[in-house]
Amino acid sequence: MQKRIWMMGLTSLVLLTLSVAGFAQMAENEIDQKVSALLKKMTLEEKVGQMTQVTIQAVSKTRGSENSKHELDQAKLEEAITKYHVGSLLNVYDAAHSLAHWHEVITRIQDVATQKTRLKIPVIYGIDAIHGANYTREATLFPQSIAMAATRNTGLMKQAAAITAYEVRASGIPWNFNPVLGMGRQPLWPRLWETFGEDTYLTSEMAEAYVKGSEGDDNNVAAKDKVAACMKHYLGYSVPLSGKDRTPAWIPERMLRDIFLPPFKRAVDAGVHTVMVNSTEINGIPTHSDHYLLTEVLRNELGFKGFVVSDWEDVNRLYSRDKVAASRQEAVKMAVMAGVDMSMVPYDFSFYNDLLDLANSGEVPMWRIDEAVGRILRVKYQLGLFENPYPDKSLAANVSSEASVQTSLQAAREAMTLLKNRDNFLPLRKDMKVLVTGPTANLRSVLNGGWTYTWQGNAESLYPKEKLTILEAVQAKVGKSQVTYQPGADFDKVLDLAKTVEAARAADVAVVCIGEATYCETPGNIHDLNISPAQMELALALEKSGTPVVLVLVEGRPRVITPAVEDASAILMAYLPGPEGGRAVADVLFGDYNPGGKLPITYPRSSNDLVCYDYKPVEIDDSNKMNPLWLFGHGLSYTTYTYQNLKLDKKKIGEDETLNVSLTVTNSGKMAGKEVVELYLSDLVRFGFPAGAAVEAFSGNLPETGRKPDGAVHSEQRRSDLPWAE
Ligand code: BGC
Repeated sequence: MQKRIWMMGLTSLVLLTLSVAGFAQMAENEIDQKVSALLKKMTLEEKVGQMTQVTIQAVSKTRGSENSKHELDQAKLEEAITKYHVGSLLNVYDAAHSLAHWHEVITRIQDVATQKTRLKIPVIYGIDAIHGANYTREATLFPQSIAMAATRNTGLMKQAAAITAYEVRASGIPWNFNPVLGMGRQPLWPRLWETFGEDTYLTSEMAEAYVKGSEGDDNNVAAKDKVAACMKHYLGYSVPLSGKDRTPAWIPERMLRDIFLPPFKRAVDAGVHTVMVNSTEINGIPTHSDHYLLTEVLRNELGFKGFVVSDWEDVNRLYSRDKVAASRQEAVKMAVMAGVDMSMVPYDFSFYNDLLDLANSGEVPMWRIDEAVGRILRVKYQLGLFENPYPDKSLAANVSSEASVQTSLQAAREAMTLLKNRDNFLPLRKDMKVLVTGPTANLRSVLNGGWTYTWQGNAESLYPKEKLTILEAVQAKVGKSQVTYQPGADFDKVLDLAKTVEAARAADVAVVCIGEATYCETPGNIHDLNISPAQMELALALEKSGTPVVLVLVEGRPRVITPAVEDASAILMAYLPGPEGGRAVADVLFGDYNPGGKLPITYPRSSNDLVCYDYKPVEIDDSNKMNPLWLFGHGLSYTTYTYQNLKLDKKKIGEDETLNVSLTVTNSGKMAGKEVVELYLSDLVRFGFPAGAAVEAFSGNLPETGRKPDGAVHSEQRRSDLPWAE
């Protein structure tokens, strides 16, 4: 069994300092006193409102789309905040806003909150800024997380997260629903690309980098360029058995703790302020009703101090979808008593009404309401929102600065993962005649994926024209006269194949760009991991043309391409590399950048052979023959590296001891390059169990965890350890 990886020798980038003076964060005890004092002044209605989050659509007149401008509805906004005391808003109504519009929206919201309410409690606005401030039109966008993981560069991740935080805050928004810390171990899942891949260690490293980049090394989120991060989706959302989004996962406790929990623990240790709940169920228990995970593990074991927000509509789904609650109101009681502090309702005030009734009848005790509201207010104080909830317009000047764009380009380059390079076919010479073809060759959207300007990321007209597609970047690199373009196929059908083959024959090389159209969440569900038949037909036809083929994969999950692998001269995995991805692909194809990315996932050979690299011996034995195309960690270079002098400073180590490993790595080839050294440990023989314990472990009797089989509510439990508890 292979387990865990260590990394050494990461090239560390010089971090750009984006630090902007902000409010000094109040001392913790001062915040606690303020929270306590405020709670005493609040009515039950005001408290329940703080726990309610609605989407901007609920307070808007018109959507913002490719063709229409978003407009708030002042009457609805005032009703939400003054009548229902709503404490939080989120999202866009369909499409990204300009900075100027964000400033207007946030200002109008905070005007109502601070001028038209009794206690002037500011609203906390939350947004999904998954790869840069992707709901702000002017923002710097980055490669999606799966590509960031391929860089193995935590310094770069931290820097990208810092730029994201800056640009989110420059939009007037203090809260980002990222990072996604689910383990990407189910390649069918349409959110695989939002994860850092299949390895727990790598995900944990990225988790810390992301949280510190977003919140700052000291987690002073009152700084004007920082935001509160939101680790999500806690826990185990990422491995639905069926591969379909928001369907059940079955994860034994042991695996949950060994593989899934550590990244969340790292984020908690890094000081993350908020967490979002897994939208579905694990082992038959919807996580929104799971007191064990949301309170016992998260609070009591991990020591998380921030607040818990539900995912979209998921409190109500305990009733409407999961059928574990007999009514909408029971669903609210279950979720709140399990540990949900804020409900992303998100379209109406049903949660507010239900919780109010439940509190009035005593079914949800006041201590639990105070606990939840206290946690929310605490984060609002920590963010400095009580001092100033308004956008700082002066930050706008540095949004999408040249340095930020360079960081995105660097990340896209470092992500590029060379999977195959027969006889060093790449890099291409710049005097070659090139055919560029395929459905991902000349679109901007496909380089970015979902969560880009719109939820599904498919509004091509919203993409800035100055960002180059792969075709445009190749043309810019070698000159238009050397490049021919044929669409070849779209995702579903071939387009003039004969003409494309003819164009290939007239060229020295065919660069065939295949992969996936944009998608996000449930609309991205697939029934088959194989790449679409039309794209396969195109690739195979060009491979038969006699002209060498380079496959460029632009995709968020590893679509099976096996029939086209053998005859391809080279294969480059570009993932979802972001707006600079076209340039990064061209840089690598023509040798202006030496690829060094490594797969953060195992690339399957066939659609029913889905395993991760940390397999058990039985999975690769003679009968089972697990045989993926490329394992996690695979990635070629244009140069060669020699590894020598591996030394371990001890032959034996005890439980808490450190083993130092050193080696010499030499670039023994002809081109400068960056190599990330990965160290894999194999547990060749299971050591260390006294005989009795081993028997226990093998028979599946894990230590008592205290989990109630139904994940049920424990309403009598009172958490008196909270500073504001009476
Ligand atoms: C997603 C979350 C996201 C939320 C708010 C949900 O559908 O699962 O990841 O943060 O919407 O947009």
